[in-house]
Amino acid sequence: MKVLVLGSGGREHTLAWAIAKSPLCEKVFIAPGNGGTSQTGENVQLNPNNFDEVAGFVAVNKIDFVVVGPEDPLVNGIVDYFASDSRTARIPIFGPQKAAAQLEGSKSFAKAFMQKHHIPTAEYREFSDKEFDKAKSYIAQKGAPIVLKADGLAAGKGVRVCFSENEALEALEDILLDKKYGEAGAKVVIEQFLDGIELSVFAICDGARYWLLPTAKDYKRIGEGDTGLNTGGMGAISPVPFANEELMQKIKEQVVDRTMTGLQKDGIPYRGFLYFGLINVNNNPFVIEYNCRMGDPETEVVIPRIKSDLLPVLLDAAKGSLPEDSQIEVLEQSAATVMLVSGGYPENYEKGKGIKGIPAKSESLIFHAGTVNKEGVLSTNGGRVIAITSFGSNLKEALAKSFQVADEIRFEGKYCRRDIGFDVV
Ligand code: AMP
Ligand code: GLY
Repeated sequence: MKVLVLGSGGREHTLAWAIAKSPLCEKVFIAPGNGGTSQTGENVQLNPNNFDEVAGFVAVNKIDFVVVGPEDPLVNGIVDYFASDSRTARIPIFGPQKAAAQLEGSKSFAKAFMQKHHIPTAEYREFSDKEFDKAKSYIAQKGAPIVLKADGLAAGKGVRVCFSENEALEALEDILLDKKYGEAGAKVVIEQFLDGIELSVFAICDGARYWLLPTAKDYKRIGEGDTGLNTGGMGAISPVPFANEELMQKIKEQVVDRTMTGLQKDGIPYRGFLYFGLINVNNNPFVIEYNCRMGDPETEVVIPRIKSDLLPVLLDAAKGSLPEDSQIEVLEQSAATVMLVSGGYPENYEKGKGIKGIPAKSESLIFHAGTVNKEGVLSTNGGRVIAITSFGSNLKEALAKSFQVADEIRFEGKYCRRDIGFDVV
């Protein structure tokens, strides 16, 4: 079958790589893809947010299945568009419908949903931009630490963890008054600070049933020791050593099951990847966020640990026909992903730096993110450039292998965090 993967990051390179390995896959297209995906399949210059253009390509090229990588097209309703367009109505597409993608598209929606369905999450209130004074009083009443979140999509930058009341007031002004996050800041969610250790859990959902994928932990801050600005993610490990059976049972019962039945009850059955961003507080899970897609770089660390063929699983989920019991086989080995980024990221950085030293043969997997291949010359084209995933009998071993490859690959301004996994190894 011919498969189209939408997106251009390390997540999409990994998904395309896993799909291309399937005996069911005749060809994989990636739109728009990057300098690595062109080695896995064929890049096509389509904008994933231009649904008409995507549907046209699918029809003309007789694509059998579409897998949506990033959140924007999902939150903007690509799945609904496909269902309503005669060219694509019968083409399975992997991802949630617009109403269900609101779990990521609106923090306010997600919080109300969790409250309604008794899913453990931080206590909160929400305020519109007309309620600045009320929001200010709420902050004064609750005190610091406190967390402010712009309601809408803000490319992972709309969350402000504040350790003083002053900091919180500054964040409130940025979000509600100065509209630093644009329309995403028409509302703000202000919530209790939870003190614990984070982990991520992923499910492949078919509307009614779900299969869990291996757990992961990502490292979002730019600086070692989890300091500095938030990034898309500087590395990840899988599995999460503290995600023991007891904690996983609680996560299944209190978070995943309640979310899935809640979505069904509310008439918005969920198909696609559902990402649970959790925080473990004294062995009790709380939801920090939902994402309507896989994480990046979590995909790069989780998907390679899956031994079974991913393509039929994605297809069954998209069609609503996932078998009851999970048939996902997972590698025993641990995996670690290290992200190489451009100097200056997540703030200003330069593109167009030549990339050298990618090992031709390596035990490690090299997934491209911000790279471009112009007539055989590979150069940087984004903040996050390349993700390196390695396996080991333990995390330490996997990390050492990834760092070794990280040293071999060269481009001007290259930076990576050398302490991925520091809090769990
Ligand atoms: P998010 O974009 O929602 O994942 O939030 C970004 C980061 O902010 C998370 O990864 C957490 O580290 C932190 N965060 C979000 N909400 C809370 C909370 N209620 N308590 C503590 N930290 C939080
Ligand atoms: N790595 C965090 C995310 O994909 O949301």
